[in-house]
Amino acid sequence: MNAWNRNRITSILGIDYPIIQGPFGGYASQRLTAAVSNFGGLGSFGALNLTPQAITEVISEIRSLTSRPFAMNLWVSQEDEGARTSDANAFERSLAPLVAHFGALGVPLPMYKAYSPATRFEDQVRAVIDSNVPALSFIFGIPPKEILDECRARNIVTIGAATTPEEAVLLQEAGVNAIVASGFEAGGHRGSFLRAAEDSLTGTFSLVPQIVDAVDVPVIAAGGVADARGVIAALALGAEAVQMGTVFLTCAESGASRLHRETLLQRNADRTQLTKGFTGRLARGIHNRLMEELNRKETGILPYPLQRALIKNLSVAAESEGRSDLLPMWAGQSANLSSCTDVTAFLTSLVEDVSEAAGPIIEWSATRRKHHSV
Ligand SMILES: Cc1cc2nc3c(=O)[nH]c(=O)nc-3n(C[C@H](O)[C@H](O)[C@H](O)COP(=O)(O)O)c2cc1C
Repeated sequence: MNAWNRNRITSILGIDYPIIQGPFGGYASQRLTAAVSNFGGLGSFGALNLTPQAITEVISEIRSLTSRPFAMNLWVSQEDEGARTSDANAFERSLAPLVAHFGALGVPLPMYKAYSPATRFEDQVRAVIDSNVPALSFIFGIPPKEILDECRARNIVTIGAATTPEEAVLLQEAGVNAIVASGFEAGGHRGSFLRAAEDSLTGTFSLVPQIVDAVDVPVIAAGGVADARGVIAALALGAEAVQMGTVFLTCAESGASRLHRETLLQRNADRTQLTKGFTGRLARGIHNRLMEELNRKETGILPYPLQRALIKNLSVAAESEGRSDLLPMWAGQSANLSSCTDVTAFLTSLVEDVSEAAGPIIEWSATRRKHHSV
């Protein structure tokens, strides 16, 4: 009988369980990455905001905490059309609905500054590759061919993210080793890169089997997986691993803020919604007053990453003033399903529960996959 935890993903990555901790851009922590990897899953670190120098330091810190494989994660595309030409008028329009909140939080109003990119994928990925990391995962596109070739030559496993079967096919053609099928339920940004994110909103239950049918490389299910039921369902749909994000935000090792963590632990995340208002790109977070206001049709939203920078001014103050109504708090639709506070305890019980039921399902699902490929 097939063991549920022995498949192409576990063997490509050299891990014990096909459980990937989803990378958190801006909320990552070396301790969380290492804790998941030490357990035998794949810890990931979202490095989207980091300079190459900081990336190198983070990688060596992770290596000091674990000798097991881990992934570094980057955003291939880091700015939207219009970011370079966005002017002071656009800035004032987007600032207008926030002025009262800045006042209430006692924060001086931010001033318009012409955009200049803080980080570039090309420089960040150089630092990741030069450190010979075990795995590189990415969203919002496909890295240039030379980068993927170099990863292959250095045995760095590459994991791309797709929000549609078409994106998955392109990722496979580019030669990635595995594909994350990222369903509508997922917390954080929609990493769409072919169609607009608004037109790429398929749920995990529909997306995973369609991507499994469309590609031969192993598929990782992401979006809404929060417990053993989700893992088993993902495996039954043909995925060979899961990527869980939101569930790890509440554990002691996560980099999420106190307010964000408390809101999740108090199970106040029953209503999540997609918004462009927090960063300029479509992403799922907990519905609150700020999201409601920014989602109004008439609100001006700056192109990514300008909106992100604008809101950052507000969120730092909202956090210190304890204003969860004004704080962006990313979370997926299954946020209220779990309250993981200790990574090892959570993963131990997850693995026990999945092990009880998964064997026959995996065997059946693997047979289905074989039938498809003949
Ligand atoms: C706070 C937060 C930040 C995230 N940042 C990234 C990121 O930088 N890169 C990425 O590939 N995925 C990112 N994700 C997506 C997760 O890695 C994962 O795919 C997703 O959370 C899975 O869905 P779930 O939240 O329902 O578990 C983020 C998710 C959250 C909740």
